[in-house]
Amino acid sequence: MTEFMDAGFGRSPETVIDDVPVRGTLPDWLEGSLLRNGPGTFQVGGHRYRHWFDGLAMLHRFSIAGGRVSYANRFLETKAWSAARDEGRIAYPEFATDPCRSLFARAMAVFDPQVTDSAKVNIARVAEHFLALAETPIQVEFDPQTLATVGVTGWDTSTFGRMTTVHPHLDEGRHEAINLVTRYGAASQYAFRRVDTSTTDLAATTLATRRVRQPSYIHSFGMSERHLVLVEFPLVVNPVDLLLWRTPYIENFRWRPERGTRFHVFDRATGAHVRTVRGPTFFAFHHVNAFDHLTPDGRVDEVVVDLVAYDDAAVIEAFYLHRLEEPDSRIPPGTLRRYRVSLAGPARDAEGEELCGTGIELPSLDYARMNTSPEHRYVYGVGLSGERGFYDELVKIDIAARSSARWSAPGCYPGEGVFAGRPGRTAEDDGVVLSVVLDAPRGTSFLLVLDAATFTEVARAELPHPVLFGYHGQFYDDVAGPGGAPAR
Ligand code: CO
Repeated sequence: MTEFMDAGFGRSPETVIDDVPVRGTLPDWLEGSLLRNGPGTFQVGGHRYRHWFDGLAMLHRFSIAGGRVSYANRFLETKAWSAARDEGRIAYPEFATDPCRSLFARAMAVFDPQVTDSAKVNIARVAEHFLALAETPIQVEFDPQTLATVGVTGWDTSTFGRMTTVHPHLDEGRHEAINLVTRYGAASQYAFRRVDTSTTDLAATTLATRRVRQPSYIHSFGMSERHLVLVEFPLVVNPVDLLLWRTPYIENFRWRPERGTRFHVFDRATGAHVRTVRGPTFFAFHHVNAFDHLTPDGRVDEVVVDLVAYDDAAVIEAFYLHRLEEPDSRIPPGTLRRYRVSLAGPARDAEGEELCGTGIELPSLDYARMNTSPEHRYVYGVGLSGERGFYDELVKIDIAARSSARWSAPGCYPGEGVFAGRPGRTAEDDGVVLSVVLDAPRGTSFLLVLDAATFTEVARAELPHPVLFGYHGQFYDDVAGPGGAPAR
């Protein structure tokens, strides 16, 4: 096996480090905690998970204060984790791995497919609750300082037959968190669920619904100032196949390019369906931003949707571990594309445009300030410098200049870049990009701090162990490590 497979898809030891060695100088304004989610192990007893999107959830916290860094990680203490620890078995179905079951239990499972509670994909603060997010309806609350598991909650309280996205939109000004739930059954539907974040209650209400015969695999959605945009890719499932559950979750979906892509637009305030527009065939995991285009008299004539798009869904196949191990394996690069969805006049197909040819995934932006803004300019993400291997560079795309900048280092594999802005900034990229980078030859990881404007390294904090290839995290400038700021 190659070094990046050993270190990036192995196991991270649980640990707490009060003072992580720092090389370089952290900006003095940079204070807060980077909370990240991802797999903590791909091996359970004698069994191995099959795909990058499987694995047992592990939370990571890098707290920065006074130019110093502290670190902790911890497995999310769920039923999936307990079964792995106590019985050495994979007990719940994941994205592309089914549980270890006897033939009899496998037959019984057809009538009782339990969803995993290993919420490993993202983190969100909703109404002051810190949540570990999964694509299942089970979201797990945790303590941001100790990373201890608090308990289970959800966007749509039910067990089987619901899936959701791990990318809810949060609008602090309007005190709302919105997520998309797909309900599978005889009458399947998409439902936008809304939480009022002005209270501490996480109860969600339904904002909008749309019936669907063959639901699409949807990882995120768009939100502009006035609209919600559900982009329905032609990777679809017959719900009966999910109910029978003969193969892992994602393997029930089929690529139907002839369907094209459908943009369903809803009014954010009322939930009313505004329009459905067809578009070219493509696939995406991640929306980046969406914004309304206004006419001189203040009407919205177009919703503009930016996302990281692929020509097809083959990227999902590329993330099977056995595929990544192949010497000639190749991850298809996604690119930043803009689709214009016309809301005025006769319906016409959405048109797409590639904003930059640089491959990018795990896109992020200065969400708090730039989400829904037509002025949004910079997108950060991971990229592929070579033809083979895994994401091995960080990229910054300048939408206005249609250009990109890159950071890479030999043998290094960066994770998602998370923007942290300098307080009082006026320039959009005045701040840093934080990324947990795997140094494969050394078998260890470090927290990389890049100047977001110049895209050059200012500091790194070096851990003595590897952090596995994870997915998403968030930076909170008001969350300190345990005991507050570390002593200077
Ligand atoms: Co994602």
